[in-house]
Amino acid sequence: MSEHHAPDPGRVYNCIVGGDDNREADRVAAAWVNAAAPDFTAMLRANRAFHRRAVRFMAEQGVTQFLDLGAGFPISPTTYEIASSIDPDAVVVYTDIDPEVGVRLGALPGTHGSTAFVVDDVTRPGSVLDNPAVRSLVDFGRPVGVLLVALLHFVTEEQDPMRLVGELRSALPEGSFLVISHAACDVPWDARNSESVLKDALADLTRRTREQVTDFFGDFELIDPGVVTVAEWRPDEALDPAAPPLGIHCGVARKTRPSSRTAMSPAEHAGEPARTRLDRGQATIGVPATTRAGGRQ
Ligand SMILES: C[S@@+](CC[C@H](N)C(=O)[O-])C[C@H]1O[C@@H](n2cnc3c(N)ncnc32)[C@H](O)[C@@H]1O
Repeated sequence: MSEHHAPDPGRVYNCIVGGDDNREADRVAAAWVNAAAPDFTAMLRANRAFHRRAVRFMAEQGVTQFLDLGAGFPISPTTYEIASSIDPDAVVVYTDIDPEVGVRLGALPGTHGSTAFVVDDVTRPGSVLDNPAVRSLVDFGRPVGVLLVALLHFVTEEQDPMRLVGELRSALPEGSFLVISHAACDVPWDARNSESVLKDALADLTRRTREQVTDFFGDFELIDPGVVTVAEWRPDEALDPAAPPLGIHCGVARKTRPSSRTAMSPAEHAGEPARTRLDRGQATIGVPATTRAGGRQ
């Protein structure tokens, strides 16, 4: 007798973006959503394509260590596959609140010693940064690429997303990058998409404006073209001018100046003496065409 499963939102997402971690009920739901709201599924795929371009961009700037927070079920190419194709010494720590994601990411072949998985809640960034797996793989004296891709819209205002992103920014050394994509509340949907399906699909998300998403980058320097909708961020191919904008804002920004001394770094979390922290290298990597937070209007 076959087991009955209700569609699971994470696995429906995985199916829409081309992953293998889904079941029959998830595939049926994904096909139904695609028929009723084609721009919604296009948006999720464009988000994954943004992830690919952003990781490749950071790796090309010389970043070799990555923290992929809220990584989700593995979808090829993974952060590690993209980064290690540019530098085979790349290391990636994946985190997710869902332990099932960890089981799948932990079982990926060919990554032993180069990747780790941590089950944790991004709303507790200190706990994530202090995790022994993070500290053993990531050297916070060198630039780190931090990914918050399609994650922060799961964090409510009560959970204070500005605080948590601020703590992450403070913990990073200069030359590090922050990547964010985030569901938008200020991008209109084309009328061909079913309103009721969109309402259901977006119900659990705290969508935010472009300005709010820009604020998450703080004093990091936005990489050109700034905060834009996902398909518009350094596309590999020319965009179709007739295509409607897709409702996810995104951006990539680089830390170009030291943190103020008010927030704790991972070293401080771990009780390491300040002298050691200050002795660490302050690598800065060159990136063409950057723009201050606020980006393109
Ligand atoms: C839409 S998926 C995005 C996966 C991947 N980042 C991507 O863009 O393809 C969101 C993921 O965030 C995870 N998540 C949600 N809330 C979280 C939290 N508070 N801390 C860590 N992970 C969380 C979910 O379990 C899910 O795997």
